[in-house]
Amino acid sequence: MSVRKVFADALERAANGRELSREDLQVLLGADEQESTSLFELADEVRSRFVGEEVHLRGLIEFSNYCTGNCLYCGLRKNNRSLVRYRMSPEEIMESARRAADLGCRTIVLQSGEDRYYTAEDLAELISRMKGELDVAITISIGDRTRTEYELLKEAGADRYLLKFETSDPRLFSALRPGTTLEERLKRIAWLKELGYQVGSGNIVGLPGQSLEILVGDILLLRRLGVEMAGIGPFIPADGTPLERFPPGDLEQVLMTLALVRLVLPRAHLPATTATATLDSQGRLRALKCGANVIMPNMTPQSYRENYRIYPGKLGIGEMPEESYAKAVKMVESAGRRVSRDYGHGYRVREALKTGSGIS
Ligand code: 5AD
Ligand code: SF4
Repeated sequence: MSVRKVFADALERAANGRELSREDLQVLLGADEQESTSLFELADEVRSRFVGEEVHLRGLIEFSNYCTGNCLYCGLRKNNRSLVRYRMSPEEIMESARRAADLGCRTIVLQSGEDRYYTAEDLAELISRMKGELDVAITISIGDRTRTEYELLKEAGADRYLLKFETSDPRLFSALRPGTTLEERLKRIAWLKELGYQVGSGNIVGLPGQSLEILVGDILLLRRLGVEMAGIGPFIPADGTPLERFPPGDLEQVLMTLALVRLVLPRAHLPATTATATLDSQGRLRALKCGANVIMPNMTPQSYRENYRIYPGKLGIGEMPEESYAKAVKMVESAGRRVSRDYGHGYRVREALKTGSGIS
């Protein structure tokens, strides 16, 4: 059978809602330029059918760039001494969240490096205040903590948690994230689900040492975990890290991965990531047309942004929150879509609200 026929068959199975096998995914990921166009079109159709035309804008607040982690790919790693470190006070975080909510964000994403300076109690207090004063859903993205800590944050009112597995290959995971294991990471994702969070995860496309098989494994793992959100972005070599001289991930491969994740998780929320935008000026717009339905405008105060340097050239460094928000709105409109006005909860909560059955 010709390669083209194999591709057409795999695409046909996807279009008919059949579960894609490892082999199907492998073939689809290997698509040539012409084939990938039909894959992107299918992902766009599936996105439209399952999550509609609305794009959710999540206001991202990067509240601390301190990190005890030492991931080989990340500019925030603790051994990167060239970075000026900062922490926002609870008051500053509240102020940024208020600004984001006033602009129209119905979700606030609180993100930081692994920074134990803020205790779970501190964060719980901040979360309950934010939920009390602002009409927003809250996503937490602060990495590894204990189950008890996750529980405290959930009880305080956090709705969602983002914990990327980064790569589904256990050896690559431990090589790139010294002192940690994939197994531990997956255990945490399971806790978060048990605790009732809407859980997001994701990977990095084009990591040094990542094969096509591993990338297929990432897509299968996202499906197995049944995540409600998945962040797919390219590797971007970061100065001051051991991987600074490796090549960046490939935009087409990122978009194909994103499209395939849309096919295997039709109802998930998939952001057009900042890393994708950093790789290519058209990256985010193209992602919106390949399955993405979320943008995360940066709501971090301008003075701190340049130091949340996970990788260089990060988009929007010099912008004010208002500009980042306005750009996101423009992007949504230029894609022929509209900005959502609701919280943009995960599908389990959406279904429960529709049927009025409540959720546990
Ligand atoms: N390129 C792309 N994404 C990166 N991240 C960290 N370093 C890089 C990089 N060099 C992403 C990881 C992590 C988040 C903090 O940023 O996915 O979850
Ligand atoms: Fe820290 Fe996360 Fe970066 Fe690793 S990826 S160094 S844990 S911020």
